[in-house]
Amino acid sequence: MDLGLEVQSAAETPIYQQLFEQVADRVRSGAWPAGYRLPATRTLAQQLGTHRNTIVRAFEELVAAGYLVSSVGRGTFVAERPSESARPAPSRGELPWSTLLSASATAEPLARLERYRRQSQPSGAINLARMQPSPELMPHALLRRCVDHVLRNLSAHALGYAPREGVLSLREQLAAQLAQSGVPARAEDIIVTTGSQQALDIVARALVDPGDRFFADGMTYTGALNLFALRGAQVLAVPNDTEGPDLDWLCRRPPGDAKGLYLMPNCHNPTGGTISPRRRKALIRWSHEAGVPLIEDDYGADLELEEEPAPPYLRAMDPEVIYLSTFSKKLIPALRIGFIVAPRSMHEPLASLKHAMDLGTSALLQHALAEFLERGYLRAHYQKVLPEYRRRRDALVEGLTEAMPDEVTWDVPRRGVVLWLRLPPELTSDDVYEAARRAGVLVSPGTLHAVGAHGRTGVRLTFCFESPARIREGAVRLSRAITQLLRRPQPRPERTEVASYGI
Ligand SMILES: Cc1ncc(COP(=O)(O)O)c(C=O)c1O
Repeated sequence: MDLGLEVQSAAETPIYQQLFEQVADRVRSGAWPAGYRLPATRTLAQQLGTHRNTIVRAFEELVAAGYLVSSVGRGTFVAERPSESARPAPSRGELPWSTLLSASATAEPLARLERYRRQSQPSGAINLARMQPSPELMPHALLRRCVDHVLRNLSAHALGYAPREGVLSLREQLAAQLAQSGVPARAEDIIVTTGSQQALDIVARALVDPGDRFFADGMTYTGALNLFALRGAQVLAVPNDTEGPDLDWLCRRPPGDAKGLYLMPNCHNPTGGTISPRRRKALIRWSHEAGVPLIEDDYGADLELEEEPAPPYLRAMDPEVIYLSTFSKKLIPALRIGFIVAPRSMHEPLASLKHAMDLGTSALLQHALAEFLERGYLRAHYQKVLPEYRRRRDALVEGLTEAMPDEVTWDVPRRGVVLWLRLPPELTSDDVYEAARRAGVLVSPGTLHAVGAHGRTGVRLTFCFESPARIREGAVRLSRAITQLLRRPQPRPERTEVASYGI
């Protein structure tokens, strides 16, 4: 007896589930009446060219859901009256999830990221998109010593929830480090967070109600765009000139026009730029006049590639600046430890939001990091990684200089781990992303970093994740891919330019 069932082994849905759905459909629609006898599992398996166990599993689930009854020795039949409450298991996706999803879950920047994430990556591709240290640059043995030490000395005391603002010994270490960088901070001013992503999330939650405006560079950190979108913020792109965000533009906005201005003054992600000291002072003046707080994201703290100090932090110049930083880029992302230095009157609301969000960052890891800092391991780590990042940057610049067509330009980064390639008008960042992918190189297209449809005029390259040799090779392959793209007749897309401000 051929039941007209069909299954496809190549389909995304497992065969037993395909079978479940087809049989359930026929029972529900009445095409198979109560008492209708199904063929033996062995026969059905042969007909469908699948394994008998698969049929047995589908039948078991159909029996459990009330569609079939099975009688030992007699066979399997359509149940008398499938019970009203019989429902397929939730995994069968019968709930209307697409109508249940919140606006946050379907926010545009998240979908944008998802689109790239789904693209297949050629195996062995050279990764100039990833912004994390390569495994050999992460001091796992030193961290293990610190974790061992903490467990030996604090035993289970390190295993409870951490205090709301973070473990005191870590906050003291952070305050001391900040003081060395010219940022006056006491341990009480610091809130430890689960990565600086959470720091940003807390700040966004503290400041933004749905529909509020927030200022950011036209090209900015994708993760910040995601968080602002989750809050329902309307992000406005601030144009840049060679010194940083365009002050004339900001001054033309009415006072209190936005809930904050998000900045990465020292090594902007994605453009690698640094805001000039003069512009920093002017931004602080503007912030007080306009009543708009500055959010200083110092994600690349201490990644200095030249023997020159970074310009003074905004937070060093103004205690009303909300400063955030992280150990992800300079040390180990898996620590998930970042922190906020808040203006005095924002400390309480930020700490209380932090507590509501996750009841505290891992106490064990905070103690371990405090020990790591206490032992001076971070300084030793910098002595290893900074020269290596310099080598990697130089390898990237060498490869680009050798093979990149003249139409594409860049500045040599002096700090941080990103280099921004400015593309000529006949290329889009998506074209370059795709051509690079085909050539076995992963890059981060400007599209991912753009505020709305703002100019998508470049691609970001990182030089922290691959060895110097692979970085150089990646730069050459990318240059060749771009050369080929430029040789092809290209339609001229319309777009706005975004200056990537000076290094
Ligand atoms: C500019 C910027 N800020 C914040 C973060 C968040 O990093 P984490 O949560 O690991 O500290 C990142 C991560 O890439 C970043 O690039």
